[in-house]
Amino acid sequence: MTLPRARRMDLVQPNAVGELLRMGADPAITSFAGGYPDATLFPLEQLHAVYDTAVREQGQSAMQYTVSDGSPKLRAQIAARMARHGVTCTADDVLMLQGSQQGLDLVAKLMIDPGDVVITESPTFVGVLIAFNPMQPRYAGVRLGPGGMDMDHLEEVLKKNPGAKLLYTIPDFQNPTGATMELAARKRLIALANKHNLVVVEDTAYREVRFAGEAPPMIKSLDTEGRVILLGSFSKILAPGLRLGWAIAAPELIQQLGLLKLAADTQCSTVNMAAASLFLERFDLDDHIGVLRQAYRRKKDLMLDTMRQHFPQEVRFTDPDGGLFTWATLPSSFNTEDFMRRRALSEAKVAYVPGASFFPDKLEHNHMRLNYSGQPDAKIVAGMTALGKLLKDELARKG
Ligand SMILES: Cc1ncc(COP(=O)(O)O)c(C=O)c1O
Repeated sequence: MTLPRARRMDLVQPNAVGELLRMGADPAITSFAGGYPDATLFPLEQLHAVYDTAVREQGQSAMQYTVSDGSPKLRAQIAARMARHGVTCTADDVLMLQGSQQGLDLVAKLMIDPGDVVITESPTFVGVLIAFNPMQPRYAGVRLGPGGMDMDHLEEVLKKNPGAKLLYTIPDFQNPTGATMELAARKRLIALANKHNLVVVEDTAYREVRFAGEAPPMIKSLDTEGRVILLGSFSKILAPGLRLGWAIAAPELIQQLGLLKLAADTQCSTVNMAAASLFLERFDLDDHIGVLRQAYRRKKDLMLDTMRQHFPQEVRFTDPDGGLFTWATLPSSFNTEDFMRRRALSEAKVAYVPGASFFPDKLEHNHMRLNYSGQPDAKIVAGMTALGKLLKDELARKG
């Protein structure tokens, strides 16, 4: 007998990648699959100091419930940081989230009725598909080029899907490809959103982890009609264990997201918000981000240099200016999921994320996402060397 369930659960299923990643958690395997920041760079001394103050000196309020939108002081500090990205807002425009992932869950509830078309980059972040799937959308993927989402293709997709109302993008160091959207594309995106009355979710999870070049303006800073919901996060610039992110949007949208937040979990952790606020007050987060940028640039170079040396000629991979990932593309008949299951885990002792899981509609099987931030140098070199040699062997066998 099967127990009754909501129909929406049809789309909430464990997938093969979950099983592969569990296999990759074996300590004998070096995993390049996760999106983990380098834990050795967490500013633990400073975090210790601010948690100490939060508990000892502010304990009665830091351990109490607070307003569901989140600590007003922290929201004001975030609003002030946003000004440097050209986004003018106040604490009232900011909603604190349990990581930006929660923003995706709340946006799904706010925006998606069953059968609605949601536009995303193709490939896109797995977490958005997981968050949106229960609301039973249909996805329309837009091709990615080196300059981010391909705007000509977006125009085509909008023509085919005139009822589309939601577009999700990661314009800076996109997960999984590392691509960044150029300024001209950002302007065109806003013009198209205005024309077609779209709500745009701009996910900026990696924006501040830039180690080369100049940042184009945030899409939100080009938004004159209040149709962009900006998502941000402390996960990649401070520590993901805080589970603190934020949404910034026009009053009508932020208020409704706030009501959904109240229903979901009442509020973010008061003590974590107090600690983050004290961190911003007492220490220089930008100094810390500077340390991260240097370290990730070095690790990215190390990974890509090793790949250039050992990977077969036929494999192409992206060279991002920031973020945590490179995206490797193999010949079109190659299946990276099958290769990982058959050989990469057992012979190279390496895990990665097979690319197919990132595609919203038409799956492609010949890609892999590799993370360079989470493993120490020696493991990056050993892992990429072993993977490259094994790929050469596999491609030679295939003839
Ligand atoms: C593009 C993107 N958005 C959002 C998130 C969620 O991050 P968090 O919930 O830790 O803020 C991630 C995490 O890896 C991500 O890659």
